Amino acid sequence: MDDRILVTGGLSGIAAGVVARHRERCVVWSRRAGGIDVTDPSAVRTAAEAFLRQHGAPFAIVHGVGDFEERPLLQTDDALWRHLFASNLDSAFLVARALVPAMCERRRGRVIFFSAAGAEDRTAKTRSPAYFAAKAALCSLARSLAKEVAPSGVTVNVLAPGIIVHDHSHAESQRRMAPKVPLGRAGRVDDLLGAIDLLLADAGAYVTGDVWTIDGGLAL
Ligand SMILES: NC(=O)c1ccc[n+]([C@@H]2O[C@H](COP(=O)([O-])OP(=O)(O)OC[C@H]3O[C@@H](n4cnc5c(N)ncnc54)[C@H](OP(=O)(O)O)[C@@H]3O)[C@@H](O)[C@H]2O)c1
Repeated sequence: MDDRILVTGGLSGIAAGVVARHRERCVVWSRRAGGIDVTDPSAVRTAAEAFLRQHGAPFAIVHGVGDFEERPLLQTDDALWRHLFASNLDSAFLVARALVPAMCERRRGRVIFFSAAGAEDRTAKTRSPAYFAAKAALCSLARSLAKEVAPSGVTVNVLAPGIIVHDHSHAESQRRMAPKVPLGRAGRVDDLLGAIDLLLADAGAYVTGDVWTIDGGLAL
């Protein structure tokens, strides 16, 4: 049985860490990897059909795409609003809709989305309200999907990182936020990989519909 992990955005950041860890099992989708824009419904449909023809249903989807930008709400123009929702929310829906039914037929599988620490809590998100609104909606989507597919043995969970520094992360914003982390440092990609490994492992098969915050205590 083909046991592929579809990793969107897997050429950089957190998703690239997953690819480095499970290299032989991973198929990467991004604009630079396969020319796939995961906010484009027809591109996702075409890529999913090709994936299913070549590999059958994936064992897992790790959906790493999710752009961030700091902008106060009333300065958020139409284009940025749509971009942040397309990147963080629509993409998750499109990828799940294209591939999860095949995973359900296989009666096993894992879906991992990424929100952001504190996205659902009762605090204003003045740094990037549109981004956090999309991330909160993504948590809701994940819970709905988790319940919908649970009878088929597919799990759906969300990791909510705090500040994860990598080559392409938002350095200036992260420098400002890092001193607020109770554990005393910004996060690294490695700080997320243990949780991802657990969700992908047999030991994680009974976890579904959950949001795991991995932020060094930032959202406390
Ligand atoms: N890093 C953090 O501090 C942090 C904190 C909280 C939450 N998160 C969330 O965690 C997830 C991973 O974050 P990250 O910082 O590791 O991501 P990242 O490095 O910023 O992005 C990963 C990749 O996504 C791809 N991508 C972007 N838009 C795409 C599109 N429309 N279609 C296909 N691919 C696209 C890009 O590759 P291409 O250019 O090749 O398309 C990019 O290399 C995101 O959802 C992010 O919001 C991150």
